[in-house]
Amino acid sequence: MFREILAQDADSIQTQFDLVLGALDDLDVTRAMAYATQGGKRLRGFLVLESARLHGIDESHAIWPATGIEALHAYSLVHDDLPCMDDDDLRRGRPTVHVKWNDGIAVLAGDALQTLAFELCTRAEIGSADVRAELALTLAKASGAQGMVLGQALDIAAETAPDPLTLEEITQLQSGKTGALIEWSACAGARMAQADPAPLRRYAQALGLAFQIADDILDVEGDAKKAGKRLQKDADAGKATFVSLLGLEAAKTRATDLIDQACAALDGYGPKAETLKEAARFVIARDS
Ligand code: IPE
Ligand code: IPE
Ligand code: MG
Ligand code: MG
Ligand code: MG
Repeated sequence: MFREILAQDADSIQTQFDLVLGALDDLDVTRAMAYATQGGKRLRGFLVLESARLHGIDESHAIWPATGIEALHAYSLVHDDLPCMDDDDLRRGRPTVHVKWNDGIAVLAGDALQTLAFELCTRAEIGSADVRAELALTLAKASGAQGMVLGQALDIAAETAPDPLTLEEITQLQSGKTGALIEWSACAGARMAQADPAPLRRYAQALGLAFQIADDILDVEGDAKKAGKRLQKDADAGKATFVSLLGLEAAKTRATDLIDQACAALDGYGPKAETLKEAARFVIARDS
């Protein structure tokens, strides 16, 4: 069930990107934006659409923030892959944007995807001005120096830190770099319905950590062909991860415990939340 829904949501998001990006002038930077948004699992967009369905919000409203968060995520990946960051040449099975074009185009395509995300999250089709403002305000916090950018900065700093990070420090790093956008995505449906996002937040906080642990495990023992990106890079780069601190087995146990916690957080929603629970189980079983 979950896999079919994820595939359908990924298609809807791609259609929306085609519509929005197809309307822009045909330039290297816009071609690079379109390229960077293609492929990927669309987990964050799915979380927006599924949390919206959970609250009775129609897809015609929710597709805008779902596409918006995927634009923001794509920007974060384009910049994450730059030579001055992780220096990666492969993403989603294809050359990274700076390899296909150049660093300047990659910086600018990332910048424009970030602003596009805010445009998409404030579209009139979403609903009331209050809802749109709340989505934009919370997305700004989740993306910037209290969220994803903070996590990325801690990630880069850890590469040259004299001592290994503590569990608490790695948790803070990962809650920022991966957790903040996942949390925003899962809370979006409640926000659109002006409902309490607290249960979805608890779900997403556990899910986000488990998601990044799974990414770190993939780096160690994944199949690069399936993952579509270079693996076995974190240890040499001196990345601070749950795997580097706890070892593979303890990291796997921690990820499983976190998924149990994520699922338990949604019990109040009853059977309606089953697809989100399935998504949580998928997150730690994935190979890409
Ligand atoms: C990769 O995210 C970067 C991390 C935050 C770990 P995803 O694994 O969701 O990447 P795509 O979007 O499916 O390519
Ligand atoms: C990237 O984390 C997180 C963001 C882009 C915010 P990673 O550097 O671990 O992601 P991959 O492994 O390159 O996909
Ligand atoms: Mg990185
Ligand atoms: Mg990276
Ligand atoms: Mg990684």
